Amino acid sequence: MTEIASPQANPLLAGLKMRRPPDPCALTIFGASGDLTQRKIMPALYSLAMRGLLPPRFGIVGVSRTEMGVDEFRERMRRTVLDHARDEFRTDVWERLSEAICYVTADFGVEGGEEPLVECLNGLDERRGTAGNRVYYLAVPPSAFDDIVVALGRSRTTEGWTRLIVEKPFGRDLTSAQELNELIRGHFDEDEIFRIDHYLGKETVQNMLVLRFANGIFEPIWNRQFIDHVQITVAESLGIEGRASFYEAAGAVRDVVQNHLLQLVALTAMEPPIDFAAESVRNEKVKALRALHTPGPKHVVRGQYGPGYIEGEEVPGYREEEGVAPDSQTETYVAAKLFVDNWRWADTPFYIRTGKRLPKRETTIAIQFKRAPHPPFEVDEEGGLRPNVLLIHIQPDEGVSLAVGAKVPGQGITIRTVHMDFLYGGSFRMGLPEAYERLILDCLLGDATLFTRADEVEEQWALVDAMVAPWRRDRPHFPNYAAGTWGPPAADELVHRDGRSWRRH
Ligand SMILES: NC(=O)c1ccc[n+]([C@@H]2O[C@H](COP(=O)([O-])OP(=O)(O)OC[C@H]3O[C@@H](n4cnc5c(N)ncnc54)[C@H](OP(=O)(O)O)[C@@H]3O)[C@@H](O)[C@H]2O)c1
Repeated sequence: MTEIASPQANPLLAGLKMRRPPDPCALTIFGASGDLTQRKIMPALYSLAMRGLLPPRFGIVGVSRTEMGVDEFRERMRRTVLDHARDEFRTDVWERLSEAICYVTADFGVEGGEEPLVECLNGLDERRGTAGNRVYYLAVPPSAFDDIVVALGRSRTTEGWTRLIVEKPFGRDLTSAQELNELIRGHFDEDEIFRIDHYLGKETVQNMLVLRFANGIFEPIWNRQFIDHVQITVAESLGIEGRASFYEAAGAVRDVVQNHLLQLVALTAMEPPIDFAAESVRNEKVKALRALHTPGPKHVVRGQYGPGYIEGEEVPGYREEEGVAPDSQTETYVAAKLFVDNWRWADTPFYIRTGKRLPKRETTIAIQFKRAPHPPFEVDEEGGLRPNVLLIHIQPDEGVSLAVGAKVPGQGITIRTVHMDFLYGGSFRMGLPEAYERLILDCLLGDATLFTRADEVEEQWALVDAMVAPWRRDRPHFPNYAAGTWGPPAADELVHRDGRSWRRH
């Protein structure tokens, strides 16, 4: 059972004030019968309700083409909260939330398909005082975006404000992302559009900015003079979990590199923003993305897993997964060496890697500093004095650790690397909010800082398009790594060539 920590229970939380409550509004979820609504969106809304963070005058409308009555939909949502919410199930909280829930069967692909929704929302304004304020959440496949966006644009009124949350994937290359941006901006202003990259809702990702910019000690050494290189790893031990049709079309580069990995690069490399307002933060991120040099083919490695073992269990290779072509060329692993072409980072490599069926689930940013210029001790390099590394753990155990050399107790001077650790859960003694809670609440508050702006998405796609362009001309020898290993040998060579190695796990 997750405890809701009260400020009195933990001195580190004393004096914290809640932000202003969101305006009254109605949240419409398109794709209400789908997986994302069940596993993430509704549990997040429940956790927000539990903490009193939703506006008192609030309505939720589930929309999909599946025929369902409101009672059936509420019951489905109750079960999904029981199964997936991070908090205990409290009948009083659920009953209050449930009263705010409606369901509309609608097909936006047909003329006038939006009318039942418009009617329902007008009813909510009257019954629950939602004041014409609208949040629309597109939790549907991208193929359904067009019809919904156009119909919403058609039915907009001047009453209240309107915001649109768009799920990933945002396009599948630069051209399609630009087309989608154009379509949406035909009906919504940029400050009404909230493109989700759920990594940005994670506490440690936000803490990265706090660590860098709220502490005086890091920023002076956060540059090429003191940092040898950066390694960013997004490792998953899972395979494709039955999502073959999605994954065959996406692959690791579109699924993870284009969005999560490049966002982590941008947050690590960006210059200090003048304040934490959405535009200031995003201006700096987009500058860092623009400074990324396209890696040549020698600096990109791709892989696909074959059969192997994860935690002692035998697992099939990618090509043996249900729905995957037996000669599939889809990559399940990508590693690359990137350079940020600016004064701060010139010649400092950013090594990034992501893969499925790696030995464990782990997302980390490792900032490896240069060695001390002249240690006045005899240093046993083999024995364990390694360069200082600031390791930011994003998942599963959120925290920060700093590797430093320390004297082993006893006679003489023997040095070993030890770790100073800060674990989020331990220090603040509270469960961390799910990324979706933070992001949905931010959208209700109109704060777009943790959402991706159109120019960021387009910069990310431009880099990815250039990275994958040479792939059209060759057929890689797949599979080239066994499930349960850390990727293909060529990924090790990528860093070994520079006299470096991937961080040990
Ligand atoms: N699931 C995740 O963990 C996850 C994570 C990140 C991003 N996403 C993104 O979120 C979106 C939804 O994913 P999902 O996993 O929930 O998919 P899903 O389980 O397949 O559900 C899709 C939902 O969209 C509705 N839908 C399908 N085609 C439609 C159409 N032409 N017009 C209107 N509604 C349509 C479906 O309902 P009806 O058929 O009843 O209309 C269903 O409610 C996708 O863009 C996906 O990439 C999902």
